[in-house]
Amino acid sequence: MTIGRRIIHLDEVTSTNDVAKRHAKDGEAEGLVVVAKRQTQGRGRQGREWVSPEGGLYLSVLLRPSLKPKELTSLTVYSAVPVAKAIETITGLRTELKWPNDIQIDGRKIAGLLVEGSSQQGKIAYVVLGIGINVNSVAKDLRVEGASSLSEKTGQTIDQKQLLDEVLRELRSHYEQFLKSEYPEDEYVRRSSILGHQIEVVVGREVLRGKALYLAPDGALVIKSEEGLVLRLSWVNDTSIRATDTVKRIDDPTKD
Ligand code: BTN
Repeated sequence: MTIGRRIIHLDEVTSTNDVAKRHAKDGEAEGLVVVAKRQTQGRGRQGREWVSPEGGLYLSVLLRPSLKPKELTSLTVYSAVPVAKAIETITGLRTELKWPNDIQIDGRKIAGLLVEGSSQQGKIAYVVLGIGINVNSVAKDLRVEGASSLSEKTGQTIDQKQLLDEVLRELRSHYEQFLKSEYPEDEYVRRSSILGHQIEVVVGREVLRGKALYLAPDGALVIKSEEGLVLRLSWVNDTSIRATDTVKRIDDPTKD
């Protein structure tokens, strides 16, 4: 199987995840990639809108890994690594990862992943990995506080085709490793802007404060709450996190 063995390019869709899901339901094999120039109903995690004007890269990859639904957390979390690496290769900029899979540059959101799937009899039938990258978008069109784009960060227009090719190249090698249960834990931790920091976690209506301790091998975030409880977070699609202390990288020698 090769990710990108078939690529469908579209001008405008509601959401590339919708199109990929339709193909999945029609029995399409894994590896299909759907790319659109614009999305009219792009969505993000937590039921949020993913504003998708022209200039961004919006793609969905259809996968059929033989996983149990609870193993989806690791796929969701670690898939940020190949996307981050592709962005770094193309722009030369350093990215940060905010659990589960937000990709930021200098604390500004640049890209995000939304993993949606369907299971039958306790097994995954298909997974759609949706990736949105603000490439040549301008902040006013994004209408999202704290968002930026690669062109704003580099001061240059980014070649979308080159970026897409690099994302797919990184995803292919990542997915091969992933299927052998080899997860890019170190690559994730090295880029994390959360680990070792005081954070505020919002799950539904609940707000939890504590310290992000480490990333469990299955992709869950382990935190110590203010009350001293050690908790595992694995509801990747419904959780948002914010660092509440000064953000320092985990490899910062001055960190406590
Ligand atoms: C997030 O950060 O909340 C996830 C954003 C995911 C956006 C991508 S764009 C391609 C695919 N289609 C969608 O509707 N969403 C994902």
